[in-house]
Amino acid sequence: MSNRVGICGLGTVGSGLFNLFATNLAEIARKTEQVPRLVQVGCRRDHPDCDLSSVAVTRDIFDVARNPDVDILVELIGGTDTARELVLEALANGKHVVTANKALIALHGDELFRVAEQQGLAIRYEAAIAGGIPIVKAIREGLAGNRIDWIAGIINGTSNFILSQMSEPGSNLAFADVLREAQDLGYAEADPTFDVEGIDAAHKLTILASIGLGVPLQFESMYTEGIAGITAADIRFAAELGYTIKHLGIARRSGDAVELRVHPTFVARDQMLAQVNGVMNAVMVGSDAAGQTMYYGAGAGAGPTASAVMADILDICRTDTSVPNAGYVDIRSADVLPISGIRSSYYLRLEVVDKPGVMADVSSILGNHEVSIEALIQKDSRRSDAQIVIITDEVRESAMNECIAELEASAEVLNPVTRIRVASF
Ligand code: HSE
Repeated sequence: MSNRVGICGLGTVGSGLFNLFATNLAEIARKTEQVPRLVQVGCRRDHPDCDLSSVAVTRDIFDVARNPDVDILVELIGGTDTARELVLEALANGKHVVTANKALIALHGDELFRVAEQQGLAIRYEAAIAGGIPIVKAIREGLAGNRIDWIAGIINGTSNFILSQMSEPGSNLAFADVLREAQDLGYAEADPTFDVEGIDAAHKLTILASIGLGVPLQFESMYTEGIAGITAADIRFAAELGYTIKHLGIARRSGDAVELRVHPTFVARDQMLAQVNGVMNAVMVGSDAAGQTMYYGAGAGAGPTASAVMADILDICRTDTSVPNAGYVDIRSADVLPISGIRSSYYLRLEVVDKPGVMADVSSILGNHEVSIEALIQKDSRRSDAQIVIITDEVRESAMNECIAELEASAEVLNPVTRIRVASF
């Protein structure tokens, strides 16, 4: 029987999990014979929301990895270096591991899974992706009979909150102002780099792609672009054209290769993903038998993330056996298509000299690169310049790069061209 649990880390998620043990064990006992027992907590300091009087507490998290009375170590310390050492030590000592640490799995998952497999142990990480949404279970179990063709998700709540605020009707807010508001509200970290530059989403997509498409964890091959360059003008034009700008992680089969990319994306307003606002997350999966399915919920926070951690703990308690770690799939290497090789429609915004003939010149440059126009808006913005906004038909990104380079070389185009990819599902 493996049901004795040690928690390492008593921050937001750790305290949420501790309190689930305190409040929900009767509910959990209705669903499993093997009720988990919390036997030790490793934390640098106590948490004001947790009464630790009935559990053994250690200030050295490695004590938990060495404790012979712990069967399942729950890693909630974050970061990668110490977390990796802790997990390796737990595995070496015969403990199953549950973690909420997406960076740890995205960067060191291969090594950890290999060790776990050799030891006949499980590593579970439902909480690493989209907090309370059981997306790993949905893909591994609910959709197990399908070939998954693509996954597209809003998997960073901070970026979604910022874009949603910027998209409020009449807001006209700049990225930096909304980021400050998100920090004041506690949604964004003091150092928001991982969230707004797309790194957090790229970690999560690395894992989703591996379990969904059966490809190795390959964070280093991911194309990653954040939301700092999105302006109030882009948000306004998107609305005018019938779109919402969302920060998406997209993993997609493309012939024998796969696309792995995280970037701001125009999503048509009638798409379900366009309705996902604030800090909420959603993941859409395109598969051959089930078709399109979507999973929605809170991507962070004590309760939602602890809910996912507890589900993993219960799975281990129930099965008490070795569990294939990389996702019940045969992992096969597949080339990652460079971003220049993808095909997409594009939103382009050009600031141009306001004089006759400019529109014709811009159209002719697009035509030279076989870029056709699906929608176009032309606006005077100031006295001497104007904006041209275009939605193109699908074209290869390398052709679009050449087209943009020629546009930017033209004396009539005043500033770098803004380019945002348009979702095609
Ligand atoms: N910082 C993450 C987000 C939460 O904003 O979505 C945990 O993954």
